[in-house]
Amino acid sequence: MKKTLRALSLIVAAAIILCCFAGCGEKKESEKIVFGTNAEFPPFEFISSVNNGTIGEFDGIDINIAKIIGEKIGKTAEISNIEFDSLLIALNNGQIDAAIAGMTITEERKQSVDFSIPYYTATQVMIVKEGSDIQTAADMQGKKIAVVQGYTGETCVQNLGFEYEAFKKGTECILELVNGKCDVVVIDSATAEKFIGDNPGLVIIEDNTQFEKEEYGIAVAKGNTELLDSINTVLQQIIDDGTLADLAVKYIDEM
Ligand code: ARG
Repeated sequence: MKKTLRALSLIVAAAIILCCFAGCGEKKESEKIVFGTNAEFPPFEFISSVNNGTIGEFDGIDINIAKIIGEKIGKTAEISNIEFDSLLIALNNGQIDAAIAGMTITEERKQSVDFSIPYYTATQVMIVKEGSDIQTAADMQGKKIAVVQGYTGETCVQNLGFEYEAFKKGTECILELVNGKCDVVVIDSATAEKFIGDNPGLVIIEDNTQFEKEEYGIAVAKGNTELLDSINTVLQQIIDDGTLADLAVKYIDEM
């Protein structure tokens, strides 16, 4: 109880200090911070569809994190929806300030961008039709495998040495599977959960011996330590105070 009170008063004090900074300084136009994403990856980023079929808004765990980061650093978070493949290029062009896209921190990507501290742990899984004889990653040998181009799922299948077909979106892979045009889709775990929830008759197969843990991070242009430090500070805060866990529960349980 005491702890909660202390935490609360700290938050209130911080809020007051923040308000003072915002209010007392010369009235600056609120600067923006542009987050690049690829809103094809529920529950991290997707475009919410409204019942009557009209296009909704960007939503998801990452979109919420981006907004929180914006708020905490006093900038308006703007979302730029681009192809997953182009995110790192867009970062290095200065077209976006940060990429938040359920992006796995990999050694290869670290060559061209800098990553925040990890904020989510995932793994690749296989999605198959109920009754499929695929029970392990090795069983994919000789099967028609669908992956999304540029995702770590593609790299995993490449590393296994199997042939595959790459699509632009996860939903396209799922359509192939539903229509019997492929046997298995390899994709990140939480997104797979969402896809099987939407498509009865599909199931998830895990193989922890072949698919290693992956950690998601926010990417910034190499050397942009100022932004990276602010992002890390906010991430650490929302990890410590449970905000991130609440978001994960909200978006993952909602499915
Ligand atoms: N975690 C995987 C990767 O880093 C897939 C991420 C896809 N994200 C997206 N927003 N489309 O490659």
